Amino acid sequence: EAAAPHTHEKREHWSGQTAFILAAIGSAVGLGNIWRFPGEAYDNGGGAFMIPYVVALLTAGIPILFLENAIGHRFRGSSPLAMRRVHRRAEGVGWFHVAICFVIGLYYTAVIAWALSYFFFSFTLAYKDDPAGFFTGEYLQLGEAGTVSLSFVPHVLIPLAAIWIITIVVLALGLHNGVERLNVIGIPLLVATFGILVVRALTLPGAADGIDALFTPDFSALTDPNVWIAAYGQIFFSLSLAYGVMLTYASYRRRRSNITSPGLVIAFGNSSFEVLAGIGVFATVGFLAHQQDVPVAELDGLAGPILSFVTFPAVIAQMPGGPLFGALFFGSLVVAGLTSLISVMQTISAALQDKFGLHPRGSAVAVGVVSAVLSIIGFGTTTGLYLLDVVDQWSNQLGIVAGAIAMIAAALWFGGRSRELQRHLSAVSTLKLGTWWLVLVNAVSVLLIYMFATKAVSL
Ligand code: PHE
Repeated sequence: EAAAPHTHEKREHWSGQTAFILAAIGSAVGLGNIWRFPGEAYDNGGGAFMIPYVVALLTAGIPILFLENAIGHRFRGSSPLAMRRVHRRAEGVGWFHVAICFVIGLYYTAVIAWALSYFFFSFTLAYKDDPAGFFTGEYLQLGEAGTVSLSFVPHVLIPLAAIWIITIVVLALGLHNGVERLNVIGIPLLVATFGILVVRALTLPGAADGIDALFTPDFSALTDPNVWIAAYGQIFFSLSLAYGVMLTYASYRRRRSNITSPGLVIAFGNSSFEVLAGIGVFATVGFLAHQQDVPVAELDGLAGPILSFVTFPAVIAQMPGGPLFGALFFGSLVVAGLTSLISVMQTISAALQDKFGLHPRGSAVAVGVVSAVLSIIGFGTTTGLYLLDVVDQWSNQLGIVAGAIAMIAAALWFGGRSRELQRHLSAVSTLKLGTWWLVLVNAVSVLLIYMFATKAVSL
């Protein structure tokens, strides 16, 4: 037991398949499902977005999830180690994943911290008089628009520090007692709280109009390549694909494990939650439109941080039972975000363990403390909201596409691992993968290269 747990024979592992599935769902279901998806869907043709979205899930999400899980499981390592075993020159691909995780971790924490503050604000409806002014003024203390300064914002600093402390403690408790336990408790809790929230939202006056706005198809959107790019981007972000997270989590499964069927559970579980969140959010927005007596299409602020931190508070303030609704909403955001954040930090920590032979606890504390300091400087100050946008563009839209292409190229094109991985996926799994899987992954990578080029040009 006391022997170095980082060596491969003693690699930490999940207690079983269910633990793995819950942890992977914990990573996938996050802020992306609750505030990114509804806005993306709404901006990209409403109901018509569902077609590219489902196509993206089936053609890219699931096949690449299989690929990442297979690499992690077969080569038994964090992203850099596993990628080096895939191809001796590919360790850098793994470090690229780790770097993106590091960036995501910094800003993700900031949003969770805001949600934690708003969880408490909800009890007294502190934001009720002027939700927009409250968010940027009183809470974030932004000066005139566009000014960036490095003064600390005490309201943000405290929740930010709290989130980091929780994160470091969970990571330091280890994979089994920390990460796994957080997810085994957190995910069922999240499903329950969010379920209550959606039911409540659906019974608000105007709910149907909101849902209509989200699902009314605009078929002309289907011919717009940007809509397709958005759908693929959403699937990657939402399933935590190409960040090395799913790879690392799969490396903690026991040697003889079914990989494909759990992959399907993770992918469909995540998308179900996402669509449910879309319904809940837009039902609520429909109520706001009803209150203001305007069509949903004329409301502003239906995407990004504004949706959760300005529009939602405005609705909560007007609704019967608002404080409870607000607490459930922001509490759900905190739990969903925390289980994703942990997966990102575990991915970084695992890479350092594998590379330098660090003990899991030491590695977790080191990674946590460095990230905490940087995130407090970046987001505990008034630069936060500005940074968020920049980071989102570069890491979530460009970085992961590059990370996915590099991973596929290293494993299938240069590493020649295609058949080996296909056989590995089919060896113990109940669902066997035919050559169609390889065809899909290769086809998707061509599409990704196209997306990457278009996006890079537009930035
Ligand atoms: N999948 C998470 C979400 O939907 C985000 C995430 C991305 C988590 C990458 C981990 C790694 O919010």
